[in-house]
Amino acid sequence: MNQPESLATLAASVGAPAYVRHARLMGWVREIAALTQPERIVWCDGSDAEHERLAAEMVAAGTLTKLSHEKRPGSYLALSDPSDVARVEDRTFICSASPDDAGPTNNWVAPDEMRRTLNGLFSHCMRGRTMYVVPFSMGPIGSPIAHVGIEISDSPYVVVNMRIMTRMGRAVFDVLGTDGHFVPCVHSVGAPLAVGAQDVPWPCNKDQKYIVHFPETREIWSYGSGYGGNALLGKKCFALRIASVMGRDQGWLAEHMLILGVTSPQGEKTYVAAAFPSACGKTNFSMMIPPAGFDGWKVTTIGDDIAWIKPGLEGYFHAINPEAGYFGVAPGTSYESNPNAMEMLKKNVIFTNVALTDDGDVWWEGMTKEPPAHLTDWQGKDWTPDCGRKAAHPNARFTVSSTQCPSLDPHWDDPAGVPISAFVFGARRSDTVPLVSEARSWEEGVYKAATMGSETTAAATGAVGEVRRDPFAMLPFCGYHVGDYFRHWLNMGDAVAHPPRIFSVNWFRKDADGKFAWPGFGQNMRVLQWIVDRCRGRARAVESPVGLVPDYTDLNWTGLAFGADKFAAVMQARRDEWSRELASHDELFGKLGSKQPPALEAERAQLAQRLGA
Ligand code: OXD
Ligand code: MN
Repeated sequence: MNQPESLATLAASVGAPAYVRHARLMGWVREIAALTQPERIVWCDGSDAEHERLAAEMVAAGTLTKLSHEKRPGSYLALSDPSDVARVEDRTFICSASPDDAGPTNNWVAPDEMRRTLNGLFSHCMRGRTMYVVPFSMGPIGSPIAHVGIEISDSPYVVVNMRIMTRMGRAVFDVLGTDGHFVPCVHSVGAPLAVGAQDVPWPCNKDQKYIVHFPETREIWSYGSGYGGNALLGKKCFALRIASVMGRDQGWLAEHMLILGVTSPQGEKTYVAAAFPSACGKTNFSMMIPPAGFDGWKVTTIGDDIAWIKPGLEGYFHAINPEAGYFGVAPGTSYESNPNAMEMLKKNVIFTNVALTDDGDVWWEGMTKEPPAHLTDWQGKDWTPDCGRKAAHPNARFTVSSTQCPSLDPHWDDPAGVPISAFVFGARRSDTVPLVSEARSWEEGVYKAATMGSETTAAATGAVGEVRRDPFAMLPFCGYHVGDYFRHWLNMGDAVAHPPRIFSVNWFRKDADGKFAWPGFGQNMRVLQWIVDRCRGRARAVESPVGLVPDYTDLNWTGLAFGADKFAAVMQARRDEWSRELASHDELFGKLGSKQPPALEAERAQLAQRLGA
């Protein structure tokens, strides 16, 4: 009779350290190694020494450039391959058993067929490379809201970024013990190295990219890209696509939302979670500094991108930020738009695809009014202000630990999360959608969020500036049928005694000259104060066709010259624009078929009636 393999033999076969005691995990690592045939296996422990070693190796390989110690201590610049600069939504797949579970907004391929494709692609794909085993926790290690993942990757760039973006390292194995649950994440840059061949600084596969999710088995496979959300699998793939399915099945929400705290001069703390599509200023909003005239008000940051939200015992939703760092868009970040981020980026940062200054620092469009006279651009070429090219890629990023954020909320790492009083949904719209409005009911709020549309940005490949429907800012991130997702949201309104109020905002309205009509950034505090005061039951609102809205006098205008006429312009809901808008809502609903929730149909009918459309 065959003896079961001992833990020690199994560990030896994959070079696992003694503190790894999880047989299934080691068996899986062995299986992936047999498929991908790496040169060696390295189990990551998340230590400083490991980070230093990997960074030094990447500097030697040309993947990273060490920035000036005087200017940016502990910081590096990576320049990616020009073909690998953003998430690839058209190469992102939800391989549920039934196409009906993926729905009209996801690319679906039958699981068996996709597994055959992946087997072919991953076969020997790590030849000549190191396979890293990266243990990570999304959420505070050991928190009842947190979940564990293990990413296998052949990219050291992924390892050093995962160390910042998640709670990564040895402690995760203690949580897993001998049989704990983990989400298996397999990643390869898809560029095997032939014996003796010279590597390139940014290996990737220019022709084939696959970002694949198996929702039923909670698995992620990513091939061909080393960039951001394609490769740091804890972020969009796990914390949104797979977690949204877990939330549907288990009664919670995984959302594309920042979380911030607002402290009033009286010392009350109100937490708000806000969803915006990619590159709409979520990081700026989450770190906002209230402007002059808001003495005693303070904004603190829990997270800038993702929220996991569960019903709490005392009748409120509680939210955690599953991430431990920020992978923020650099262009546009400045002391004007986000002073806290600029302070946070002074040291220990990995920059990707920004420009290099001649004195070993970084620069990107919008960082300073005057660009430097000479730079090395994101493609490693000489750059001068008149050369006609962008110095930084529009989707250039910084990766930095939350702990460096000056506005970090004291509860950011609280395993219990924070109670949420308001959900805010914002999008980039030059017209149609008013600066702020509040839903009269949970259902109206879900309708507003479900029908969000936004002008597209550079965070994903594709046309920039077109309005696309982006329900809940989750279009590229919902791991299941969007109609079921709407239904889940409608049901979640009953999961707590005190569901948050729901607001819609739009900082991006333009005037007749095509200029932004709302000053934005810190001035958004004026809207945020109204939202908080509404939650506290002390601000006025008036009825309008698109929801409850403030009058000019309901907002605090201290310190800003913004007259009632300007306010009326950013609050306007024009009938012609809204009849176009309703037609576009119908296009989205038309795709839901029998999965369109009747409650949203009813909301649509009431909205049309109020608008006289
Ligand atoms: C992000 C995105 O990187 O939404 O956060 O694309
Ligand atoms: Mn995002």
